[in-house]
Amino acid sequence: MVRDEISRVISNTAYQAYERKLERSVMSEEVPHHVAIIMDGNRRYARSFGWSVGEGHTRGKEKLEEVMQWCMDLGIRILTVFAFSTENFNRDEDEVEHLMHLFDENFRALGDDERVHRNRIKVKVMGRRDLMSPEVVEAIEYAEERTKDYDEYCYNIAVAYGGREEIVNAVRQIAKKVEEGGIKIDDIDEQLISAHMYTANMPDPDLVLRTSGEVRVSNFLLWQMAYSELYFADVFWPGFRRIDFLRAIRSCQQRRRRYGM
Ligand code: IPE
Ligand code: MG
Repeated sequence: MVRDEISRVISNTAYQAYERKLERSVMSEEVPHHVAIIMDGNRRYARSFGWSVGEGHTRGKEKLEEVMQWCMDLGIRILTVFAFSTENFNRDEDEVEHLMHLFDENFRALGDDERVHRNRIKVKVMGRRDLMSPEVVEAIEYAEERTKDYDEYCYNIAVAYGGREEIVNAVRQIAKKVEEGGIKIDDIDEQLISAHMYTANMPDPDLVLRTSGEVRVSNFLLWQMAYSELYFADVFWPGFRRIDFLRAIRSCQQRRRRYGM
């Protein structure tokens, strides 16, 4: 018993020392400006403990709050997360309902969150609002409206989002402007397309990271990730540790250095 306790203390101390060392290394270089995350593995995490799917999503939500704080601590100004895809609507009705309830609760709570106001975080939700319930849309509008004038940090949450759909949407808006004579076909360039994405006025992500060991981009930020570093972490999202996050950032910094950027 005492031995177990001693070895736990030693391993905790070693872990903290390693985390501090990693953090020093990460902070000694330029940190990414914009980090995008595909949060994956909530259900597998829950299953590994014999918990319900809903519990997995709740833990995932708690993890996201932690990661938001890590970003602020490290000076990462823009965080974009994939919370729910258009395909996720095909999941069990109960699960979709539970997730929508979490979104409803969360966006409202974000709008009132003292940390959001103290740190001047602009909240933005990217995705198909026509597929969400009026309550969820109202909660989103509440959070966005209350934070619309902030510019210190940006926190983008992709809900009912699909990357191809985002591109289709941009093309439609541009075509409409051409049709109405507002712009000419020759005016269409990369910048104009970027300006019609949900991420208009934001730099593209420097780092896109996905948890749970899956090596796919799953229709996330297709246009924006053209030059992003990709990082795949082998842990389920609720089990994502600060060390894993620091490792991802350090890997991104190392690769950029190697390619002379
Ligand atoms: C990510 O975890 C959260 C959402 C997509 C809503 P999953 O729910 O995809 O969990 P796994 O990947 O099935 O374990
Ligand atoms: Mg998944």
